[in-house]
Amino acid sequence: MFKILFVCTGNTCRSSLAAVIAAQAAARQGFSPEDIQIYSAGLAAVEGMPATPEAIQAAREMGLDLSNHRAAGLTGEMVKEAGLILTMTRGHKEALLKLYPEAQGKVFTLKEYVNPGSADPDIADPIGRPLEVYRRTARELEELTSKLLEKVRKVMHLRLALGSDHGGFKLKEEIKKFLEEQGIPYRDFGTFNAEAVDYPDFARPVAEAVARGECDRGILCCGTGIGVAIAANKVPGIRAALCHDTFSARAAREHNDANILTMGERVIGPGLAREIVATWLASEFAGGRHARRVEKIKAIEEAYNRARP
Ligand code: RB5
Repeated sequence: MFKILFVCTGNTCRSSLAAVIAAQAAARQGFSPEDIQIYSAGLAAVEGMPATPEAIQAAREMGLDLSNHRAAGLTGEMVKEAGLILTMTRGHKEALLKLYPEAQGKVFTLKEYVNPGSADPDIADPIGRPLEVYRRTARELEELTSKLLEKVRKVMHLRLALGSDHGGFKLKEEIKKFLEEQGIPYRDFGTFNAEAVDYPDFARPVAEAVARGECDRGILCCGTGIGVAIAANKVPGIRAALCHDTFSARAAREHNDANILTMGERVIGPGLAREIVATWLASEFAGGRHARRVEKIKAIEEAYNRARP
């Protein structure tokens, strides 16, 4: 079950609209209620307050009923159980992370999650504005939530391979916890404790599972993330990228079609690692001029394979 929580200030317009519109998109896209749960809350909600009349009207015009909605204040329980928390603005995201720092890695603005790198990642507050502004907000939410669910579907169905040596063991366990919270399945290729082992022994089976197509993508950890990256990249077809920031994680997918992400437990903390994993999982290869370059990487690999006796 993948749980998506939309958050705004009062939970009487933007997040409540986002939740009903997303639920409609989910039903349209064939998600079953067992697959996905969508709900909303406000950082400063007055409990029990109905949605604004304009939000109810804008929803009604889309065939949706918001008349029974009652505002809910954001709670620690909601934050804990959500796999993905989508705020309406960067301000909401910052405020939420100040209250619940442990949620780092699963909190994004809706726009930045759907369109990473978006120039304006905020959805403006329509409160007190005419109905036409609410209609525009609802249309914007309709477009964003439809793309959101396409993305969620891909992430939910990814077959992930995980591996680490002793130096990355704790980080791998942290990533497993994060994936479980998000309802994302994975296959763990070890190591299974903190006893000293050799990283190529774990990088290789993960890389081979990805190269053979048994898994779609892999995540490898060691002390620095370097050893596992070097080892994995020896397997033909693997493009392993060492990423210790979200910008690189996104670019590794969009530009390099990286099929393995590597990270170092001695380099970054678990909060940033979660954010990097979420960004890398949600990002797609951009193709175009990047496809030509990835083809040239493959050509180097093929030339060396052919040259082998
Ligand atoms: C193990 O001490 C360490 O060398 C390994 O985890 C990794 O950092 C290698 O690149």
